Amino acid sequence: MAYTDEYRSALENGERYWTAQADRIHWFRKPQTTLKETASGTWSWYPDGELNSCYLALDHQIAEGRGEQVALYYDSPVTDTKQAITYNALRDKVALFAGALRNQGVNKGDTVLIYMPMIPEAAVAMLACARLGAVHSVVFGGFAPNEMAIRIDDAEPKVILTASCGIEFDKTIAYKPLVDQAIAGAKHKPLCTIVCQRPMLKADLNSPQDLDWEQIQEGVMPAECVPVRGEDPLYILYTSGTTGQPKGIVRDNGGHAVALSYALNNVYGMQAGDVWWGASDIGWVVGHSFIVYGPLMGGCSSIFFEGKPIRTPDAGTYWRVIAEYGVNSMFCAPTAFRAIRKEDPNGELAKQHDLSSLRWIFVAGEKLDSSTYYWLSDLLQVPVLDHWWQTETGWPMTSPMMGLSCPTESDPAEPRLGSTHRPLPGYDIRVLDAEGNELPDGEAGHICVRLPMPPGVAWSIWNNDERFVSSYLTAFPGYYHTGDGGYRDDDGYIYITGRTDDVINVAGHRLSTGEMEEVVSAHPAVAECAVIGVNDEIKGQLPVGLVVIKAGEEIDDAQLEAELVRRVREQVGALACFRRAVVVKRLPKTRSGKILRATLRKIAAAEPYKMPSTIDDASILDEITERLKQAGFE
Ligand code: COA
Ligand code: AMP
Repeated sequence: MAYTDEYRSALENGERYWTAQADRIHWFRKPQTTLKETASGTWSWYPDGELNSCYLALDHQIAEGRGEQVALYYDSPVTDTKQAITYNALRDKVALFAGALRNQGVNKGDTVLIYMPMIPEAAVAMLACARLGAVHSVVFGGFAPNEMAIRIDDAEPKVILTASCGIEFDKTIAYKPLVDQAIAGAKHKPLCTIVCQRPMLKADLNSPQDLDWEQIQEGVMPAECVPVRGEDPLYILYTSGTTGQPKGIVRDNGGHAVALSYALNNVYGMQAGDVWWGASDIGWVVGHSFIVYGPLMGGCSSIFFEGKPIRTPDAGTYWRVIAEYGVNSMFCAPTAFRAIRKEDPNGELAKQHDLSSLRWIFVAGEKLDSSTYYWLSDLLQVPVLDHWWQTETGWPMTSPMMGLSCPTESDPAEPRLGSTHRPLPGYDIRVLDAEGNELPDGEAGHICVRLPMPPGVAWSIWNNDERFVSSYLTAFPGYYHTGDGGYRDDDGYIYITGRTDDVINVAGHRLSTGEMEEVVSAHPAVAECAVIGVNDEIKGQLPVGLVVIKAGEEIDDAQLEAELVRRVREQVGALACFRRAVVVKRLPKTRSGKILRATLRKIAAAEPYKMPSTIDDASILDEITERLKQAGFE
């Protein structure tokens, strides 16, 4: 079918469309209900079907004859390790570890926090939880203990799974002390911490609550898959909102499995047996959807890469991986290619590898700038496809559909530079003004999606359904509010211009400026502050603090900057890349005292801005522009 037929069919009768798509996966008991409204005013798909996500990713693949096919290619240039793990072997590892987890008291519905680097045991951990019907919550390794503690108190995990260390370029980062610190700082205490010991750095397992990953599996009975309902949670993934309290996005089992299978085949154009690479980390939604669950549920071989695009050992490492495993398609953030281009501008390292297996490359997570686009497509001579999604949706909202037999009337891969392509079936995307009126094509506004959202999209926040409703469904009744701004062209192509809230995107990592502001403003010398994102050549955006010092405080600007940088690193984490704080005399405010953040965002992005009519003193904006220039920002 052509794109337009699919899109129209899903729009005209979503329930019928997604009832048919439910047949993509193996249910223990087929859902009787396709779409249900929930008590909190949201929706759930396939609520009463019975399935198990681990079964779909492993046992079902084996039943289909893929037992000896490679499920995961673990490639770790930072430890010089490679492993090809078949579906049979992965199922055995997962079943055994699930048995061990069950022995430690983990059962259906319990939560488990995972803080691990990109080693195969991390995938085993996620899948073992899914096998038991337990709910995992992966925390990205770059977060500081304080951030982990916030998540521990919210998710209340029964156990924590970690590794002795992670490797960042040539640094070995001890993870266990970070976990200990997080537990010490949290009110909730897990029963135990299970540690996967890596030979590069062993952790001290010095408390009775510290257990060894291998030892707990000795003599254990492997666990079978526990059936769960379609609406039961599979995982919680915390993401940045506008405050210091991250949002625990809850993913269900049923809608998620159907949506991933749909996207893997139709959007990414992957079939069982293909080799797929999601070049990200299990700490992010891409890692959940398209390193672990999606490719395995679709019978692909998935690359599990522990390294960086550069300096591990060089800017040719991505090309080596593509050639060595015959990668057919991949997902990547544009940052990675910007970093590679900086080191190898002429792409000489790519030319040393046979990249003929590659059909196309998908990019997302942040804006794809035109020069990266042209550099990459000229170098690889394959379609470079920008597409758009979020942690909340779990799969793309706009994208070319590379798997449709007749993808679109025109060439599906034909890019419209700056556009993330057209809405996928199930996403009725509208551009609204601040009052909720639909804007004509070409005019920028709030990008929203008419409810209900399709299967796979989150419909609750852990322990806080009201927050889901207030965050996403209240600003524009009847719509899901994405938090992104942008416009649509005459042919329905969507252009994302950036966030309309206080979220920034640093190296494809979503971060809350509000969270950093809480840390900065807690410094005793700081009267008030605003953290804004400035443009960065490699990472897209970087946070910068604009800080007003308390009257009478005697502190040198450089010393204050150093102290604030240290505090954000300690309390949010190194991944925030908060390295600059600029002292200003005052911040622009409305007459009622609200900081004009939207205007600050525009100044930081060097975009033209309209003088807000509510500003109390317009000269402050010139002052800030000048201070940023003096501090070295363009
Ligand atoms: N565990 C511990 N620390 C981590 C970490 C992890 N998993 N990931 C990042 N960090 C730390 C880094 O060591 C670094 O610390 P430093 O300030 O001491 O150097 C800091 O967090 C920032 O890391 P990062 O943003 O990765 O910057 P970098 O300079 O180390 O690397 C790139 C630059 C471009 C190579 C890197 O950002 C990259 O690979 N980007 C692509 C990201 C991506 O794929 N995103 C997809 C998300 S969907
Ligand atoms: P995350 O939830 O971490 O996946 O981040 C989602 C956010 O990243 C979106 O809301 C957008 O702001 C941004 N984003 C994702 N994909 C794109 C894209 N292709 N182009 C521009 N911004 C994007």
